[in-house]
Amino acid sequence: MTNPSPLDLIHRPRRTRRTEWMRRLVRENVLTTNDLIWPIFVQEGDVAREPIATMPGVDRLSIAAAVEAAREAAALGIPAMAIFPNTPPNLRDERGSEALNPDNLMCRALRAIKAAVPEIGLVADVALDPYTSHGHDGLMDGDVILNDETVAVLVSQALVQARAGADIIAPSDMMDGRVGAIRAALDAEGFADVSIMSYSAKYASAYYGPFRDAVGSAAKLSGDKKTYQMDFSNASEALHEAELDLAEGADMLMVKPGLPYLDILHRVKAHTGAPTFVYQVSGEYAMLQAAASAGMIDLEKAMVETLTAFKRAGADGILTYFAPAMARYLNKIKNA
Ligand code: PBG
Repeated sequence: MTNPSPLDLIHRPRRTRRTEWMRRLVRENVLTTNDLIWPIFVQEGDVAREPIATMPGVDRLSIAAAVEAAREAAALGIPAMAIFPNTPPNLRDERGSEALNPDNLMCRALRAIKAAVPEIGLVADVALDPYTSHGHDGLMDGDVILNDETVAVLVSQALVQARAGADIIAPSDMMDGRVGAIRAALDAEGFADVSIMSYSAKYASAYYGPFRDAVGSAAKLSGDKKTYQMDFSNASEALHEAELDLAEGADMLMVKPGLPYLDILHRVKAHTGAPTFVYQVSGEYAMLQAAASAGMIDLEKAMVETLTAFKRAGADGILTYFAPAMARYLNKIKNA
């Protein structure tokens, strides 16, 4: 007779963790390359790539190099890219006028990528911070960010980007009413098929620092963005913002930053049922890189765990600077 278990356990959840095949069998969430959006930074000139000091492994790309990146994305199975310009300092002004130039860096990048790699979806960020001399996302009167005046400019910016080939307009400015205004203008100008992915719940965050270096707005930024980006103490307000954006015609929602806001991501998805995206922002990327290069964590394992956590929390897709690395990892394990 075998000894009875002293614990006499009926339930042993460890049984389903015993082997890799069993863990695969009971796995609830699986990330694929279809879930990835790759944000890239473009710069003027012929220098193919220039490293961004605060984002190890991420470079600003010339337009030609951005086209190559798009080919790489397509080969890896990444569905879409988000493009951000580093506007030359002499073209930045108080009103962000360069945002409305149909031949600005952003529009030339969109056109070049669309022409060369039409199968890649192109996400265009709408906000004025890469174009303003003060680094804010909107027009200013003294210290005040003007809402309605800014929305009028954002509408023109969105149209310029749609004409250049943007498939998805992504307003990241957090002005009130901009989604409705952009939707109406896109429809009126024959762009009914251009989608809007709204940065609905975008928090005023310390994690955007490296991005501001990448687009060259960090040194310029006067003050903070707390009068338009959300207070990180608030959660229900994110649901209110998401509802307003959907009512105004947003096709997709976004929560940003990512990892510190998994609760918001989960709630927005559960509450709205709308396609919901999350942005693993520059500071999150930089933290993982810094910890890995200090020998504190394994970068690949931390990347996979973190991106899977977004999926588990309800994300339909993830904007991440790890997109090509994650896609390579997924393709490697698929072929192993
Ligand atoms: C600008 C914008 C920001 C990011 C995306 N669009 C920065 C900001 O709001 O200051 C941040 C992305 C990142 O940190 O990776 N409207």
